Amino acid sequence: MENQMIQKCFQFRTDHSMFRLNDSTDQNDDQLIELKILQDSDNQYSSITWPSADLLCRFILTNRLAFIGKTVLELGSGTGICGILAAKIGAKVILSDQKIETFELIHKNVNLNNVEAQYIPLDWSRKIDLINDQIPTNIDYIIGSDLCYEDEQQFEKLLLTIAFLIRNNQQTSIPFYMTYHFRSSNYHIECLLRKFKLQCKLLFHSENLKIYLYEITLI
Ligand SMILES: C[S@@+](CC[C@H](N)C(=O)[O-])C[C@H]1O[C@@H](n2cnc3c(N)ncnc32)[C@H](O)[C@@H]1O
Repeated sequence: MENQMIQKCFQFRTDHSMFRLNDSTDQNDDQLIELKILQDSDNQYSSITWPSADLLCRFILTNRLAFIGKTVLELGSGTGICGILAAKIGAKVILSDQKIETFELIHKNVNLNNVEAQYIPLDWSRKIDLINDQIPTNIDYIIGSDLCYEDEQQFEKLLLTIAFLIRNNQQTSIPFYMTYHFRSSNYHIECLLRKFKLQCKLLFHSENLKIYLYEITLI
């Protein structure tokens, strides 16, 4: 059976209960953004939009003023929804994912929403991807939604990549904003954070969905 493309419509509003960054303090800023996102029925993790993406999109929209004009690198973009939302509010966005097939879907979604965004292949388990000239060194924010779901090795590769990207950046105080969907208590990142000299702060959580928003920075 052939894969089917399904178009879904997502709406995001400013969320007044959301954590606010210092440079995004306009409390009266009410925004509504609608995105059209194509999903593929091929059963790949990267082909659908995951529940954690909603929380990351609401965080970016609510902190819109801090993102305008900033360079944002998204890891594990999947359908591209979070990066596309960041582009829609005026950030300069670089989307990335591990598989070349993902880029076709991202490309379609970028065009469907009339935004501009670059995309690069970035597999956290391939060192060669990290020494790629296309990786920007003027990043302001790294973002990612639902990137840890398999095993501890995946957590380790992701955090190693984050530590590298931050240390390789011109400004090393940049944060990585990540939403995490809690599925198992078997995984712990404390020792990995120590190993890569990173620290993690919980900014917000949705208890009923068990989805958490973290800020990860260098110690
Ligand atoms: C659960 S999906 C989340 C997709 C999207 N961020 C969302 O929230 O809808 C996980 C994403 O991480 C990507 N991913 C997993 N392992 C990866 C790796 N080693 N390098 C780069 N991307 C990876 C997958 O291809 C997929 O797009």
